[in-house]
Amino acid sequence: MHSTITVKQTTHSRIGELDFSNIPFGKVFSDHMFVADYDGVQWKNFEIRPLERIPLHPATMAWHYGQAIFEGMKAGISDEGVPLLYRPQDHLHRLNASARRMCMPEFPEDIFIEALEQLVYLDKAWIPQEAESALYIRPVMMATDEFVGVRSSDTFKMMIMCLPSGPYYNKPIGLLVEEHFVRAAEGGVGEAKAAGNYGASLYPAKIAKEKGYDQVMWMDAKEFKYIQEVGTMNIFFVLDDLVLTPNLSGTILKGITRDSIITLLKDEGYRVEERPVSMEEIEKAYDSGKLKEVFGSGTAAVVAQVAKIGYNGRDLVLDLNTNKVSTHMKHLINQIRKGRITDKHQWISPIKLPALV
Ligand code: COI
Repeated sequence: MHSTITVKQTTHSRIGELDFSNIPFGKVFSDHMFVADYDGVQWKNFEIRPLERIPLHPATMAWHYGQAIFEGMKAGISDEGVPLLYRPQDHLHRLNASARRMCMPEFPEDIFIEALEQLVYLDKAWIPQEAESALYIRPVMMATDEFVGVRSSDTFKMMIMCLPSGPYYNKPIGLLVEEHFVRAAEGGVGEAKAAGNYGASLYPAKIAKEKGYDQVMWMDAKEFKYIQEVGTMNIFFVLDDLVLTPNLSGTILKGITRDSIITLLKDEGYRVEERPVSMEEIEKAYDSGKLKEVFGSGTAAVVAQVAKIGYNGRDLVLDLNTNKVSTHMKHLINQIRKGRITDKHQWISPIKLPALV
């Protein structure tokens, strides 16, 4: 295959500095990055090169008006040493949906897949093998026109970096139902993985932390009645033999881990309902002893158990000993990502590249 991507390999790998038994999330980067530029007409300058800082003008539009989107995806490595990408096309489709909403250019699928394959193959020594670890892959697209005025940028930059990662949360988390601030309203950008959605979540999350919780649980913007998602994840509730998760209403992120979990649960015969879920329903289920588990799902977090939910001036405290569904789902996803169990939904793309030029 003729490659459109120029590859410049590092002469000084930093892999020797990595302690695989203790990898903090988000701070450790592999040796290489992928970079491409959009010139107003087309994507070009496809390059994999040693990870480095990029010089940018202070008027770079992404910083001023928030025209920036990203993805979070993962790669594992099989016991035979083959790097495995998890649902790369689905991530690209979501990235391009975010791009359309934010008036940004879509990225071509063939180059995205080739870039991922070459980059992850080149940095495969950075893929952790530990049970709950993986290579976290962060594509990010940003507006790069140097202009101070509100309009869409003409030029953009796409970058992909890789971070060996352990678990995002290393203990069950506490959630505070947010009854003042909102994450997204209908017609807004809640479904896009837009940088600003996360920026806007920081102040409510800070208040929640001061009150002793790890994250906020967002409610709908009209009535503060229906649950949307958690700061960093989609959310699931196990009520006896029924698993509930808020439906995709346009205001929540179309989680790829969420979709994987719904599919795996249905495979195993669980009753799963995607529909509006009110906090009133969850509180009632808790009071009647039906609420058995609550867990979040996301690429970074995979599956995160919830220990308590702050609501109506009290804590709904969950019995973590009953966490069976979440433990099982987390195990399945981690195992599929490492190629250790049958991938019956073709979520895994093995990378079998010959030696790079
Ligand atoms: C992800 O799960 O990939 C995300 O983008 C969430 C972020 C909090 C790390």
